Amino acid sequence: MLVYVLHGPNLNLLGSREPDVYGRLTLEEINRALVALGDELGVDVRCFQSNAEAELIDLLHEAGRKAGAVVFNPAAFTHYSYALRDAVAAVGLPVVEVHLSNVHAREEFRRNSVITPVAAGQISGLGLDSYLLGLRAVVARAFEREGS
Ligand code: DQA
Repeated sequence: MLVYVLHGPNLNLLGSREPDVYGRLTLEEINRALVALGDELGVDVRCFQSNAEAELIDLLHEAGRKAGAVVFNPAAFTHYSYALRDAVAAVGLPVVEVHLSNVHAREEFRRNSVITPVAAGQISGLGLDSYLLGLRAVVARAFEREGS
């Protein structure tokens, strides 16, 4: 089974971007950890990053055709992109929304996610563990769906 991991805008800068908020791991290091966990779980993890909303929509559509599940950090789009929300709802795959930082303990605008209502769930504030727990959760749901 393929699992897509989608990273939204500015996450290409991880490592140097506001390290007090987002930590010092680079995107490449996060992706490596996800691929390694994917191997353990018996799934093929493919990671993508884009700064463009349209590209993330196209990747969600592609996941709908090719993958069994998605781990999604929509970054700032989390808080206002109805187009990404509709894409998540449209593909009908288990999608877990993840955030490195605790979006509920920051600025007011970050507390609202337009994605969570159509996601299987949201994991926030645990750094790399947000992604790793998200991958475990989404793979469990995808295998459940496969078996049913
Ligand atoms: C983020 C949280 C968002 O509010 C922010 O815009 C990001 C990263 C996180 O992973 O903590 O770019 O999604």
